[in-house]
Amino acid sequence: MTKPLDVARIRRDFPILQRTVRDDRPLVYLDSAATSQKPFQVIDAESDYYRSCNAAVHRGAHQLAEEATDAYEGARAKIAGFVHGRPEDLVFTKNATESLNLVAYAFSNGAAKAQHGDDAIDPRFVIGPGDSIVVTQMEHHANLVPWQEVCAKTGATLRWIGVDDDGRLDLRDLSTIIDESTKVVSVVHQSNLLGTINPVSELMAHARAVGALGIVDACQSIPHMPVDVNELGADLVAWSGHKMLGPTGIGMLWGRPEVLEAMPPFITGGSMIETVFMDHSTYAAPPKRFEAGTPMVAQAVGVAAAVDYLDALGMDAVEAHEHVLTGYALEQLRNVPGVRIIGPQDDHARGSAVSFVVDGLHPHDVGQFLDDHGVAVRVGHHCAWPTCRRFDVPATTRLSTYIYNDTSDIDVAVDGIRAAQKFFGV
Ligand code: ALA
Repeated sequence: MTKPLDVARIRRDFPILQRTVRDDRPLVYLDSAATSQKPFQVIDAESDYYRSCNAAVHRGAHQLAEEATDAYEGARAKIAGFVHGRPEDLVFTKNATESLNLVAYAFSNGAAKAQHGDDAIDPRFVIGPGDSIVVTQMEHHANLVPWQEVCAKTGATLRWIGVDDDGRLDLRDLSTIIDESTKVVSVVHQSNLLGTINPVSELMAHARAVGALGIVDACQSIPHMPVDVNELGADLVAWSGHKMLGPTGIGMLWGRPEVLEAMPPFITGGSMIETVFMDHSTYAAPPKRFEAGTPMVAQAVGVAAAVDYLDALGMDAVEAHEHVLTGYALEQLRNVPGVRIIGPQDDHARGSAVSFVVDGLHPHDVGQFLDDHGVAVRVGHHCAWPTCRRFDVPATTRLSTYIYNDTSDIDVAVDGIRAAQKFFGV
């Protein structure tokens, strides 16, 4: 049986939650889909690394270099284990956006090299006119713009799976969208704007059936629910550290070993090579092939501490806690006349990002009014502009919860929305 989260105890671990904002109001942080706050365990792990063993990893013949390398590789093993992967299949990047670009560039680099006679490029990474790339209408720009770029560079065609009025993927025409021409299916697991949890295993099975590579953007799922990368059925999975209690400046890319092995490199330079001559180079095996330059060691150590923290709570408990908060937020918002939820209206297959609009008020005014009351939410298109267009809204106000929130935070936000309506006379 899952042990419920002790939110009062958890909150004591987060120094920032003790501060006040705007005329000494207690901070009500409801913007964890943008970035999570950090417990002192993560802050201390990063700071201890710099205090005790900071050095450049994988080079240097001294004790500090050895300890730093152990810390870095130990972090890789722990983070890989968190998603049931192997350390050698986990690549560190700057953020999830870079993880997705790494994959997108593998295709445009593969196509360019193949065009110039490099017949060693794996045909799965050679893309061109007549090929298609499939995304969804609810992608974050990080999983949309890189694929637009690949299409512009290679002549491939971008297709997308539409979104219905309830914020769910419209899967009716799937076999005409994903077909024999499809070389990539890249989809978001949980929408950062709508909160929708997509049936990614099903989509990945469609990708496999036509020989396409399947990619999952798991930024909003891995921090919030138990995820086993093997069960997703994807070839590659991208996510970030800073949304799962870890530091900024680090992203992850897990890949199936034979896919990573076949994938052309993205950023080149030191550390990612096997041999270098004046006129050409050969590359190291993954994950090093994709980690050029001095990597983000302290950040990796920080994410490993975040994994320890989440593991101690239990991801089942994290998911159950957020499910309750999401259901509560939806119910409370539904009870406010003039508020329209953008995304699934119930808590079925739904994560904790809840977007809404208020009749007669611009989302930015709602956000600013809430901020004046100490409530931190995100407003705007949430880097998912086409999704906003799908719902005919210029922007939304979004509240998003995590392990340190309880229903009282949602009450403060909802009271603030009612007060904004009264203040603006709508
Ligand atoms: N992708 C983050 C968000 O949705 C930044 O807010």
